[in-house]
Formats: sequence, C-alpha cells, structure tokens
Amino acid sequence: MDAKLTTFYELYDRRKSIRDFDGRPIEPEVFARLLATLQRAQSAANRQPLHFVIADNANREPLNACLTKEGFKAAPLLIVVCADQKQAWTRKADGVNFAWVDAAIAVTEMIGAATAEGIGACWVAAIDPQAVRVSLNIPGHIDVVAIIALGYPKTDLVREEKTRKQLTELIHNGRW
Ligand SMILES: Cc1cc2nc3c(=O)[nH]c(=O)nc-3n(C[C@H](O)[C@H](O)[C@H](O)COP(=O)(O)O)c2cc1C
Repeated sequence: MDAKLTTFYELYDRRKSIRDFDGRPIEPEVFARLLATLQRAQSAANRQPLHFVIADNANREPLNACLTKEGFKAAPLLIVVCADQKQAWTRKADGVNFAWVDAAIAVTEMIGAATAEGIGACWVAAIDPQAVRVSLNIPGHIDVVAIIALGYPKTDLVREEKTRKQLTELIHNGRW
C-alpha cells in the first residue's frame, strides 16, 4: 500500500488503464485484499449476482488464447467477471436487469483498491465471451462480462492528463 496516498481524489487521479505489466507477481496478501473488495461491493438489493474466475500464471493458458494484446497475456493475474442475471435485481418499471451494473461497481471498487496498492488494471471487454465460456467451463446462463488484467505496471501510477469531454457536455442543470 502506498503510504503517501492521502486522499480518495489522489487515488482516482492516479488510476489509468494499464496494458503493460512488469511481470512482478502480486503478493497473495495483497490479492486477498483486492478480492475482499469484490466481496464487499454494493449491489442492487444486495443480490450479489457475481462470480469471478481467477487465472494466474499456473492456469492461464486457456485464457491467453482468448486475449489479443500481448500486454494482457503478460499480466500476472486475470479475473474473468461473470454475472448471473437470474440472481440479480430487476427493476419492475422497465424490466432492466442490474447484473452488469453490479459487476461494473464491484470491479470499479476493486480497481480503486488495486490503484492504492500500486497495481495497474485494465478492463478488457473486447473478447469473445463464448470462447471464454467454453475454455473455462462457464455455465450457459452466466454472462461473461469482461476480463480484468491486473499487475504491477512498468511505470508507476501517477496523475496524468486525460482526454475527456468537458463537464458542460455531461452535466444538465435542472433538466436535459
Ligand atoms: C467497460 C470497459 C471496457 C473496456 N475494454 C477495453 C478493451 O477491451 N481493451 C482495452 O485495451 N481497454 C479497454 N478499456 C479501457 C478503456 O479504453 C479506458 O478506460 C479509456 O480509454 C480511458 O482511459 P483510462 O482508463 O486510462 O482513463 C475498457 C474500459 C471499460 C470501462
């Protein structure tokens, strides 16, 4: 954990998608803390409709075949994020299922913790979910949401400028 990290804002200023890892393994006690954030994450109606398949250097061959970028193949840990729509809360008014929202929240909280630990992460949504399902024996009713690549970055996480829309393009005051 970075002792110099003092505020939430500093934490999220540092976060960025990491696609190049230095190969150093993530210590088991650190990874345990990251997993705890997945477990403690909020979810709609506390349904916790999520599953995570963990692949490390010992058992990642099938997953590597599903990844295109070499950087991701070199990540010491991969987490396959899975959502079970049957377990998730569905909003009555429009039937929207919140499984993927719950998945995004849990992963975001975990990536925040990873950033605090000096660990880089990248969401990898550009996968073939069916190929991942088959290679990992994931049941047919479970959604394969993404793979999260995790590892120590080649260069430390520091604040950098980002290409983002202006706040005025995002915020609508009072009404759209
Ligand atoms: C839902 C989601 C899916 C993403 N999928 C991919 C992906 O398949 N491959 C990739 O290299 N980056 C992926 N990213 C990373 C984004 O490209 C990145 O977040 C964005 O460019 C902003 O950069 P930053 O994360 O460094 O701030 C994804 C991010 C999110 C949130």
